Amino acid sequence: MNRVDYLRISLIDRCNFQCQYCMPAGADLAYVQRQDWLTATELLTLLREVFIPVGFTRFRLTGGEPLLRPDVVEIVRAIAALPQTQDLAMSTNAFLLADLAQDLYDAGLRRINISLDSLDPDTFATIVGSQGPRRWQQVWQGIQAAHRVGFDPLKLNVVVIPGVNDHEVLDLAALTIARHWHVRFIEFMPIGNAHLFGDRGWIPSATLRQQIRDRWGLQVGQVQGNGPADVFQIPGAKGTLGFISQMSECFCDRCNRMRLSADGWLRPCLLNETGQINLKKSLREGLSLLEIRSQVTNMLALKPDINFKQRDTGTATGSYSRTMSQIGG
Ligand code: GTP
Ligand code: 5AD
Ligand code: SF4
Repeated sequence: MNRVDYLRISLIDRCNFQCQYCMPAGADLAYVQRQDWLTATELLTLLREVFIPVGFTRFRLTGGEPLLRPDVVEIVRAIAALPQTQDLAMSTNAFLLADLAQDLYDAGLRRINISLDSLDPDTFATIVGSQGPRRWQQVWQGIQAAHRVGFDPLKLNVVVIPGVNDHEVLDLAALTIARHWHVRFIEFMPIGNAHLFGDRGWIPSATLRQQIRDRWGLQVGQVQGNGPADVFQIPGAKGTLGFISQMSECFCDRCNRMRLSADGWLRPCLLNETGQINLKKSLREGLSLLEIRSQVTNMLALKPDINFKQRDTGTATGSYSRTMSQIGG
């Protein structure tokens, strides 16, 4: 059985973008109110007294958009300082990164994954629900700042959406040739609000790999990471290419992670919230840390049966009421 030691921590469910596949304008989302966020102190208590003792050592901060959380730098500093932290990373849209990159790095963050679905400012604007080139430019500045400051590996996440950005796959892959950047192509999942973007289907990673192989050749690559990406490389390139193939390939059996929401719900699986527990409620109602630890231990024991599996081979079925922005991807 896989060791589950990777916790994805959503710091906030709000976002400053409105990606059409995630939280499009008009989507009816009820945001967690500030008093219901896990405070930094509560989060650190849970990490120190509950998650680390049961074996978690790798942490990723997500959102919504994690940089909207006012105390994000302090949270990074505190988690980075825990002696048991083996890896601390962040997934962000980078809109606010240009101004925060140095502070985050100084606080101890070393690696960062940034959503960049298009190199074309107009296409980007269409996807993120804005107008004009400003958002793309600001994100690009955020990426440049992350590069300058020294985040390594620096990964760019591309959700490949048929008819919207699939014609850019080679241009995006080419970013890795001269730069030490890592571009990952994610199969578009028909979950959450994705249907509001139309019934677009998805493109198998194997098809994208073939396009890239035909152009430059492709070999197996390597990059630090805890996620489900299969890593390749254009021969001679400085960076790598990752493929996250949740639609064409089931990676549930190698699942190593759980997710903590901004309001303290611990869920065992991205696509299945069966058995989730509200750790914030447990904390605020005065349950002992030992009891909370045993709640998490119980969930770890149940997780293999809860993990969403591919419909044709698995036993568990998906069940989720939250969107990607609320879960943190
Ligand atoms: P690394 O540690 O750098 O490998 O990061 P990661 O891939 O774990 O994190 P990131 O936030 O960059 O995840 C990229 C995307 O992969 C997510 O937004 C999801 O689309 C997908 N993904 C990550 N974990 C899971 C998972 O458990 N199940 C499924 N179906 N998709 C996942
Ligand atoms: N399909 C695949 N990935 C998605 N994400 C959000 N919605 C989808 C979807 N429908 C991922 C993207 C984004 C992160 C928050 O979640 O990687 O950057
Ligand atoms: Fe876009 Fe990520 Fe914000 Fe969702 S959470 S709207 S995918 S930037």
